Amino acid sequence: MSDLVHLTKDNDIAIITINNPPVNALSPGVPEGISQAIEQIDSDPAVKAAVLIGGGRTFVAGADIKEFGKITRGENKRGVAFLPLLLRIEDCSKPVVMAIHGTAFGGGLELAMAGHYRVAVPSAQVGQPEVKLGIIPGAAGTQRLPRLAGVEAAVQMCADGNPIKADKALKLGIIDKLIEGDLLAGAVAFAREIAGKPAPKTRERNQKLGTAEGNAPIFAAARENANKKQRGMMAPQAAIDAVEAATKLSFEEGCEAEQKLFVECLFSDQSKAMIHVFFGEREVSKIPDIPKDTPIIPVKSAAVVGAGTMGGGITMNFVNAGIPVLLKETDRAALDRGLATIKKNYANSVKRGRFTQEFMDQRISLIRPTLSYDDFGGVDMVIEAVFEGMALKKEVFGELDRVCKAGAILASNTSTLNIDEIASATSRPESVIGTHFFSPANVMRLLEIVRGKASSKEVIATCMQLSKTIGKVGVLVGNCRGFVGNRMFGPYRREAQFLVEEGASVEAVDKALYDFGMAMGPLATGDLAGLDVGWRIRKEYRHLEKPGERQPLAEDQLCEMGRYGQKTGSGWYKYDENRRAVPDPEVAELVAKWAAEAGIAQRQISSEEMVDRCIYALVNEGARILEEGYALRAVDIDIVYLNGYGFPVYRGGPMWYADTIGLKKVYDRIKKFHQQHGDIWAPAPLLERLANEGSTFDAYDKERLAKG
Ligand code: 3HC
Ligand code: NAI
Repeated sequence: MSDLVHLTKDNDIAIITINNPPVNALSPGVPEGISQAIEQIDSDPAVKAAVLIGGGRTFVAGADIKEFGKITRGENKRGVAFLPLLLRIEDCSKPVVMAIHGTAFGGGLELAMAGHYRVAVPSAQVGQPEVKLGIIPGAAGTQRLPRLAGVEAAVQMCADGNPIKADKALKLGIIDKLIEGDLLAGAVAFAREIAGKPAPKTRERNQKLGTAEGNAPIFAAARENANKKQRGMMAPQAAIDAVEAATKLSFEEGCEAEQKLFVECLFSDQSKAMIHVFFGEREVSKIPDIPKDTPIIPVKSAAVVGAGTMGGGITMNFVNAGIPVLLKETDRAALDRGLATIKKNYANSVKRGRFTQEFMDQRISLIRPTLSYDDFGGVDMVIEAVFEGMALKKEVFGELDRVCKAGAILASNTSTLNIDEIASATSRPESVIGTHFFSPANVMRLLEIVRGKASSKEVIATCMQLSKTIGKVGVLVGNCRGFVGNRMFGPYRREAQFLVEEGASVEAVDKALYDFGMAMGPLATGDLAGLDVGWRIRKEYRHLEKPGERQPLAEDQLCEMGRYGQKTGSGWYKYDENRRAVPDPEVAELVAKWAAEAGIAQRQISSEEMVDRCIYALVNEGARILEEGYALRAVDIDIVYLNGYGFPVYRGGPMWYADTIGLKKVYDRIKKFHQQHGDIWAPAPLLERLANEGSTFDAYDKERLAKG
């Protein structure tokens, strides 16, 4: 038997233990090991029943995701061959009890459903999360789950990919019994109880499959929901098709239908992109010069300076994680306003059923409002979120230096200012770091952690870990203007504006990028964030603009007219009282007039050009950032864009998308834009090199990783 699977006995009960840390994935060797164990159990007359359990922290968390890349690259010819094993378990002459703790996900739940019974600890979770990897269950999950849980629950679990907790799984019939206390002992006792009795085979349990008429509205609703919530993704629709096959075909035919859909999804660009994202989200937490065992500073209490748009959301993140916050403002009115917004946000979540009133009250009780720095000496970390301005930031940091205890982390939420200059206002620059949250800070998953030149390893490691504690994806970035995300966003939005000035309509540009998969078009995004934000920054940095370089001409003039976007009722669009965007013919006329005055030729522009101009502007700037070392890896840039800027996950992020298109093709197109539009389109040297070498950003990441 393989080292990954062990067979032992507790008198008449056989125990199969899977030992493939960290998550007992079904890597090569595991299915073979289980198969051999089942053969032995079948032929051993002393064994009356069996328990299958995961060693370590979890049951089986699914197929080994690393194998999928090998399959699509042709390095693994066997594919995912779990189906015969699952039939073998189901056909075992002794009942097999699956004992679940941790997570039974994907192939793990499929394995569990092939057992005759399932028991679980109350903290266990089960799910078919495959759609989050751009695939569907590939080992009869779409066929066995509706037989256990019913069609409606199965279609939902397979299409949205979200796990459910053990108590719900028990109610649905996925789990037969909850075990309090020791799982193995409970599972063995359960196995002894059912030994010798007829053992149900999931594949033969057709009672919950429903009728064609009853199921039709369930599938229609699931498809509509997936169209809305997982726009542009093929896997959710395929998962629904596969569950529907379960209701219309025999089990064997249903499995064949599922296999076909699984393979189609697995070989798609979407799945490759989403698998890249899965590993990328874990990769970003690895910082080459900061070892895993770097000491972490315990953050048991925090303070937030400024209870405005960002300070309020940041406070919510901390108290949601149970960390009390001292929230400081300059005057009572601002403090009351800030607290009222926080309460309103929580109340909305309570209304929508996301939180209970009790949860809200608990969280709010963790916020201590204040107008002074008096109690700052006790906190482990401060996040500054006052107005954007260097003089004010330095004043605040000077004060923090005076009042905070040694070792406290002093973080700034600045979006544009130099962290080193802010740190220079203190006597402890090693404790200063940027924590750049995204608006709305209580919702957006991205946290750019900005490394100052003196930020200590402990402070960086702590912020990286803290990002997880507060439910964010932390990405370490360097201290350049705009850091990673906003630095790239500049050229992206610049091109969107140029396109309008060259004759495209505002709506056409937004639609092209929305259809590409962006959560919102670039011009509508500007209206949402406030056009005045960029306008103010541009005014401040005007002296840095290169003479003769083309600058967008419309947005600043819209701001001069008081059209700041949604907050003033008009920007690129007009907004009704419900903040619904309506196209504004006045804007079209104004932009045409301004363009004519500037001598910009008008032409028909294809949506393909709109997408290329905006997305390749991201890619080109991303390549510069990467080469200059402000992002550690191309995948870090991808994770920033997916979590902070609404880039479609099924395209893997801008750098992965460029790899998918082919860097030579991207480079050639950028060279064309360079000829047409001048030096703002000069290709990034790294892009040029990789394109000429026939390489990819992904290969660049891997090469550097291998070199350490
Ligand atoms: N295959 C390969 N590696 C996996 C893996 C998997 N299924 N699941 C997790 N890992 C790796 C991670 O990459 C990470 O590696 P690293 O330490 O080198 O970065 C390590 O295991 C630990 O993972 P996490 O950091 O994510 O640990 P957490 O404790 O935070 O989360 C988890 C554990 C909830 C199991 C989470 O890892 C997870 O959701 N995993 C993916 C589960 C999944 O998608 N399963 C379905 C796979 S597809 C499938 O089964 C197809 C089938 O239908 C045929
Ligand atoms: P805001 O104007 O909504 O809030 C700033 C708050 O700080 C105000 O309530 C003000 O009274 C308070 N304040 C000013 N001086 C103070 C002091 N000395 N002590 C305590 N409170 C003080 O501003 P917003 O939008 O929340 O921005 C804050 C910071 O976050 C800025 O640095 C900004 O660049 C950054 N940021 C903003 C984003 C956004 O989308 N709004 C996104 C990411 C970062």
